[in-house]
Amino acid sequence: MNRCVIGLQWGDEGKGKVVDILAEDSDVVVRYNGGANAGHTVVVGNDKFALHLLPSGAVRPKAICVITNAVVVDPETLLGEIDSIAQKGIKLDKRLFISENAHLVLDYHKKEDQLREESLGKKKIGTTIRGIGPCNADKMGRSYAVRMGDLRDIASLEIKLRTIVDYKNKLFSALYKAEPIDAKPIIEKCKFYAQKLLPFTIDTTEYIHGAIAKGKSVLFEGAQGSMLDIDHGTFPFVTSANVSGLGMPSGSGVPAKMVDEFVGISKAYTTRVGAGPFPSELDNEIGQYIRDKGHEYGTTTGRPRRCGWFDAVVVSYSATIGGIDSVAMMHLDTLTGLDELKVCVAYEIDGKQTTFFPANIDKLEKAKCIYQTLPGWKEDITQITDFGQLPLNAQNYVSFIEKSVKRPVTMIGVGPNRKQTIFRR
Ligand code: GDP
Ligand code: IMO
Ligand code: MG
Repeated sequence: MNRCVIGLQWGDEGKGKVVDILAEDSDVVVRYNGGANAGHTVVVGNDKFALHLLPSGAVRPKAICVITNAVVVDPETLLGEIDSIAQKGIKLDKRLFISENAHLVLDYHKKEDQLREESLGKKKIGTTIRGIGPCNADKMGRSYAVRMGDLRDIASLEIKLRTIVDYKNKLFSALYKAEPIDAKPIIEKCKFYAQKLLPFTIDTTEYIHGAIAKGKSVLFEGAQGSMLDIDHGTFPFVTSANVSGLGMPSGSGVPAKMVDEFVGISKAYTTRVGAGPFPSELDNEIGQYIRDKGHEYGTTTGRPRRCGWFDAVVVSYSATIGGIDSVAMMHLDTLTGLDELKVCVAYEIDGKQTTFFPANIDKLEKAKCIYQTLPGWKEDITQITDFGQLPLNAQNYVSFIEKSVKRPVTMIGVGPNRKQTIFRR
């Protein structure tokens, strides 16, 4: 059984938690997109792991962890992460594989990200400054890209890096009047990365297909959320890659038809971190209530997340383009205590109603949410493991969302711990 987990909103839906749960009966867990812009949280007992590059399956001692071609790897972050989970007694020797074709995020990418964002002022995207956009741009530009496999030939890489740094310095100076950077420390770091990371480096496409052929169960862990997809999201306020379900095949080398179930993850409401349109945003005390109760601060950057009502137009669209079979809905517990809840069921744009999400900034900026109001509940639900035990209003809320997004909600989160989950099959 091969499954794929996809974020259906603007990221941070609770993918780490769901991947950790599904990893229990998976042999291989694959991170196939994004980079250290992602922050996936797994909570096991009193231990909390915030993973940026390692698949969330790393926490399961037997799971094989794969980082594929489309992940932009910041070697410093990855090595830090390997060390930090080793300190918690989790070893990755012989069970971590990294694609030789994965692109490296180096210091000049992070600097470029920061300089560009600063220069944009109010028009900035609100990136994570992890160098993701500049690294993906270099990948598309090809000539100045550095891949994991390039670490095998340090002499050639040294020559290449000098050319790249020279080019970047001209750019930094001309556009931003910034201080030049030195190639030498970057080259030295790459020598260190080669020593540390080459033992993990393989052809991951061949590996995953080999595992599937042997009947192993593979779990694909998407990063970010479909609304941040470069082609199908809220462009230009998106990340620099295809992070909806559509990106999984190219990200891993595995066709979507080899995946038995696409599991979409949403929150019971909506959050977004960074700039850009957010039709159901609650810039008021209810939004603050959700932020406080749900601890809605970024896992990667610590920024407060913008909060809003559940948007069924967004989730239906993400589920449609991503071929989503079922939905895992996290953070139902966070809505406890609100008198009434709203669900956005359609948009009104220029006096016309639509239920199909318009992935176009001009239309989105005019979109007004049409809401359906449902009654809330007050009872603590954080220890409930059976759907039938939920307050009736909570059951009705979930059922209403199921109907609105035309997908079954098969998992419900009632707290951050792996055990705080209601399963419905
Ligand atoms: P990801 O990027 O999709 O993996 O999500 P993040 O880890 O960035 O953010 C989700 C946050 O919600 C984390 O702090 C999780 O521990 C927490 N979380 C996940 N599911 C639930 C839930 O059902 N209830 C509550 N209260 N917290 C949850
Ligand atoms: P996970 O996997 C939430 C957002 C950033 C910014 C935009 C572009 O944890 O769900 P980037 O650094 O990628 O160029 O930033 O995308 N963003 C995320 N928001 N969760 C994420 O990942 C995100 N990854 C990128 O906040 O708005
Ligand atoms: Mg996150």
